[in-house]
Amino acid sequence: MSNLETLMRRGTDFLGCETAIMCGAMSWVSERNLVSAISNAGGFGVIACGAMTPELLDTEIAETKKLTDKPFGVNLITMHPQLMDLIATCGKHNVGHIVLAGGLPPKGSLEAIKETGAKVICFAPATALAKKFIRSGVDALVIEGMEAGGHIGPVATSVLAQEILPIVADQVPTFVAGGIATGDMIAAYLEMGASGVQLGTRFVCAHESIAHPDFKKAFMRGNARDAVASVQIDPRLPVIPVRALKNKGTEEFTAKQREVANKLDAGEVDMGEAQLEIEHYWAGALRRAVIDGDVENGSLMAGQSVGMVKAEESVAEIIAALISEAETALAR
Ligand SMILES: Cc1cc2nc3c(=O)[nH]c(=O)nc-3n(C[C@H](O)[C@H](O)[C@H](O)COP(=O)(O)O)c2cc1C
Repeated sequence: MSNLETLMRRGTDFLGCETAIMCGAMSWVSERNLVSAISNAGGFGVIACGAMTPELLDTEIAETKKLTDKPFGVNLITMHPQLMDLIATCGKHNVGHIVLAGGLPPKGSLEAIKETGAKVICFAPATALAKKFIRSGVDALVIEGMEAGGHIGPVATSVLAQEILPIVADQVPTFVAGGIATGDMIAAYLEMGASGVQLGTRFVCAHESIAHPDFKKAFMRGNARDAVASVQIDPRLPVIPVRALKNKGTEEFTAKQREVANKLDAGEVDMGEAQLEIEHYWAGALRRAVIDGDVENGSLMAGQSVGMVKAEESVAEIIAALISEAETALAR
């Protein structure tokens, strides 16, 4: 067994795949084609449920199963109003791993997942939360830093890894995400105790990704400094920052926040509704860019590692390159 295989062993045993590289769920991008390609190439694909209804998720899982007989997971957003039905849909298909994103799992959701027989993976943005999740029976953790694309926390991956891995890595398999685009970085986090890694941005331009050609072109042109975090304009309206390539859509989001803040002031919506409206805005804007190719006005969610995405390659080529770089780095 190679050094890399040994370091990934816990992660591959947990996920049931050959290499402990997860492709993080990306709304509109992580559907049947990309997910099955990742799993077929030995990695671990994850369907992004996003705002899908249980019926749509049912179809997506069934169609993914037609394209791969390898394990894959489903990412569910905790604030989805039909979370429990979505869990039941995963249960119906015997999905082995459910990733819960978007905040604390609501009461009963962890138990409901366990009852389906699936393993639960949660995002741990801080040590205290990581410990709490382990106490409540979560099977694995992802620690994701602010270099990542999409919704982000305030702390860098390197800091989270140093702070959280030594405390939790021997208790549950822990995957590191955010800003990873090379095997060198994968090797480094494995040596620090991670069981595996999760990448998103690096896989967007895969041949198998259905993202619009213009979306992919924007990624291949983009540099690290172009992938900026959204700014909160109103202290009364806390919005989770989103990292995306800057474009006209970035400015439109500022206007959207102002509009929602005004509605909040006028008592037309409460805080929960206001935040949901912001999230719906992102989902719509991301769809416009990923599916319709409107890279001017849509959201180009991308991590800082976008600067290292230079060409369209197959998923198998990307994974092979990451593995080879990681092996070389470990040998060095
Ligand atoms: C276009 C895009 C959409 C994303 N959508 C989601 C999502 O729906 N749910 C989620 O948990 N994470 C989402 N993410 C985060 C990824 O799953 C992954 O954790 C992240 O991309 C890893 O960091 P990296 O981009 O630096 O590789 C998204 C990321 C991108 C780039």
